[in-house]
Amino acid sequence: MKNSSRRGFMGKAFGAVAGVGAIASLYAMKKSWDPLPSVKAAGFTTLDMSIYEPNVLITEKWRGKPIFVLKKTPEMIAKQTEQQKARDIVVGDSHYMVCIGLCTHLGCIPAYNPAKEGFLCACHGGQFDWSGDVTKVPPPRGFDIPPFKIDGNKLILGEAGPEYQAMKDNGITL
Ligand code: FES
Repeated sequence: MKNSSRRGFMGKAFGAVAGVGAIASLYAMKKSWDPLPSVKAAGFTTLDMSIYEPNVLITEKWRGKPIFVLKKTPEMIAKQTEQQKARDIVVGDSHYMVCIGLCTHLGCIPAYNPAKEGFLCACHGGQFDWSGDVTKVPPPRGFDIPPFKIDGNKLILGEAGPEYQAMKDNGITL
């Protein structure tokens, strides 16, 4: 009788230790499957849109890609065509061009000339206007617009809000 209860106790103790071990190894496995915090954070970039100066190009970064942010001046807004307007991201009263800063020809990074209010790609001479639309080939299309969501005066890159979805549905961006 004494022996069997001792065996029962040993069995339970062994089971408990094995159970804790199994939970610990499952936890370790889950941790190794989860993306690193740096990878998680890299998925989204939040931009405070109130910090940008008109007609000054700022290059931000999202998922390792350059993101061009250009706040438009009232003159630019007044003279732009419907096609250029359709590419605007409007936050509050301000209009912005926010695009992936890679030439859609072969991926070079074009340079902005504030005096000419346009971009020149030095690789093969492609040109883009201040809305990011192509004005001179060989680039096949304007700059691509990253997924974005407007949240107050912030822009969340990596999340597709209704304004981005509308641009995609209308063929403004890929
Ligand atoms: S990569 Fe820009 S024009 Fe060719």
